[in-house]
Amino acid sequence: MYEKEKRILEAKHVTKRFQLSGNRILTACEDVSLNFYKNHTLGIVGESGCGKSTFARMAVGLEKPDSGEIFFRGRNVLEIKGEELRLSRRNIQMIFQDPSEAFNPRMKLKEIICEPLLNFRLINRKQMDSKARELLEMVELPGSFAERFPHDMSGGQRQRIGIARALALEPEVIICDEITSALDVSAQKAIVELLINLQNKKQVSIGFITHDLALVQQFAHQVAVMYLGNIVEIINGNEVSVNARHPYTKELLDSIFDVHMDFSKKIVSIESEVPSPLNVPEGCPFRNRCNACRKVCETEKPVLKEIEPYHLVACHQYNDSFYIGGCL
Ligand SMILES: Nc1ncnc2c1ncn2[C@@H]1O[C@H](COP(=O)(O)OP(=O)(O)OP(=O)(O)O)[C@@H](O)[C@H]1O
Ligand code: SF4
Ligand SMILES: [Mg+2]
Repeated sequence: MYEKEKRILEAKHVTKRFQLSGNRILTACEDVSLNFYKNHTLGIVGESGCGKSTFARMAVGLEKPDSGEIFFRGRNVLEIKGEELRLSRRNIQMIFQDPSEAFNPRMKLKEIICEPLLNFRLINRKQMDSKARELLEMVELPGSFAERFPHDMSGGQRQRIGIARALALEPEVIICDEITSALDVSAQKAIVELLINLQNKKQVSIGFITHDLALVQQFAHQVAVMYLGNIVEIINGNEVSVNARHPYTKELLDSIFDVHMDFSKKIVSIESEVPSPLNVPEGCPFRNRCNACRKVCETEKPVLKEIEPYHLVACHQYNDSFYIGGCL
């Protein structure tokens, strides 16, 4: 699964800081390294403001990192220009939480869906009707929707239009940023099933950004957990509930409300406030919320390290010295 040749998009040590008024610096992403593999879904999960969208925008080329590199099929996209850059962008598409914001309300759905194909001159206007129908059917909507306008649709249907438009160019990577968070549970399930089916058919690599760990662990091959701009754990999706190691991932899991949960157990939630990204604690960024925090956590930032195959954790507990006397 994780063979190097299946690695389509690689982010290496990517950092993004924003300069705010009063000379304040906000670190939105700090040394983030993530890989997107062919026919594979990477979930990126974390609370609001942890840097998920900033990372996604850099991964698709909408924003430049301050440092670090982004490789598409081994080529550093930050070094390519002109036509080569335009063509590489075609291969990495993004869908936003509310795609209708990106839709011109006066355009018919067929024009919205086919716009990227027209821009790249892959079809002409005469071919638009049949292509729009084909793409609508691909996302399980009736071909007759081609003549509709965006306001005539439900939220779930608009997301399908966003997916159809993103897939029109047959990209190798598609990054979905909170695309199900505004939908009800059944529409969420339908969109996730659609993405899984499309991935099976087209072997596309999917990045699925969400704050919903319960949802993403059900279908993502791998889940990266982000906290205040840092990746704190990377784990296989099907192991999250049984094998998560980082205290933050465990707290996210404990705060999932489950109909099958044992109500005799205390319901745990993350009670303390996430610190401002302008005021990230020294040492471990999670230390002010962590029950296992020790002296070393106050001064040394833990690095992300592989504790077992394909399972990475950034926590001093996985350093041998953590439990040796003198840490507290
Ligand atoms: N252009 C910008 N200028 C200044 N600060 C920014 C900018 N874009 C993002 N930020 C800040 O960077 C941090 C990360 O933002 P980002 O939108 O990436 O978070 P997120 O994880 O996607 O959050 P959400 O789940 O709410 O969408 C936030 O504190 C945000 O306010
Ligand atoms: S490094 Fe320390 S503070 Fe951070 S998560 Fe691990 S135990 Fe908690
Ligand atoms: Mg976001």
